[in-house]
Amino acid sequence: MSQELKIESARAALGLVKDGMRLGIGTGSTADEFIRLLAVEVKAGLNVVGVPTSIKTKNLCDELGVPLKTLDELPELDLVIDGADEVDGQFQLIKGGGGAHLREKIVAHASKAMAVIADESKLVDTLGKYPLPIEVNKFGLVATTKAIRAVADHLGLSGELNLRGGDNAPFETDGGHFIIDASFGHIPDASALSKALLEVPGVVEHGLFLGYAKVVFLASPTGVKQLGEL
Ligand code: A5P
Repeated sequence: MSQELKIESARAALGLVKDGMRLGIGTGSTADEFIRLLAVEVKAGLNVVGVPTSIKTKNLCDELGVPLKTLDELPELDLVIDGADEVDGQFQLIKGGGGAHLREKIVAHASKAMAVIADESKLVDTLGKYPLPIEVNKFGLVATTKAIRAVADHLGLSGELNLRGGDNAPFETDGGHFIIDASFGHIPDASALSKALLEVPGVVEHGLFLGYAKVVFLASPTGVKQLGEL
């Protein structure tokens, strides 16, 4: 996705932000563009308080002067604006390409609404071409991976389960967990997979966001399409 499309999608979402809002602020390269645009508005006098969904987002907001609170200080939010790796026609999402989906989902759950900023290439008929990030506890990694495989088999899903970063240098999330990227190819029943994965004790959270997004901004070279509304 080109830088311009990210900026245009982020700019469209900025139109939802109203003075006085308590705002969840997403993670990723598109969310970074949103933060840059938001910072300009804040400098010009917009009064908002943000709750960041990752350390990376917190650092960029601090650098650019976007006022922040923690989710504990501000546990109810008006709106979260975040990117996505895939979006389907029912506004179901795959997130976590940047490894922040646990905090992103906690913040989305604490928000009255979620707006997604993306480009049209992320719109899919069926989720799953993008590997599903599954955040797991470090303890019992092999057993948890086997349990995820069993869940997938039961649902008729196949594909590689890869420890992000590899065995020698596994990627560690802000919460100190690992991520298994599951290359299922297609996920016909995201809801069934979501429930089954969460029954595996070592699974901390997965990147399926079901029932969260209310608005999706999809940028293309011909403009930004808004799907849904607040
Ligand atoms: C971060 O963990 C992710 O959920 C991102 O929101 C997602 O990967 C989209 O990122 P980009 O905007 O960089 O494509």
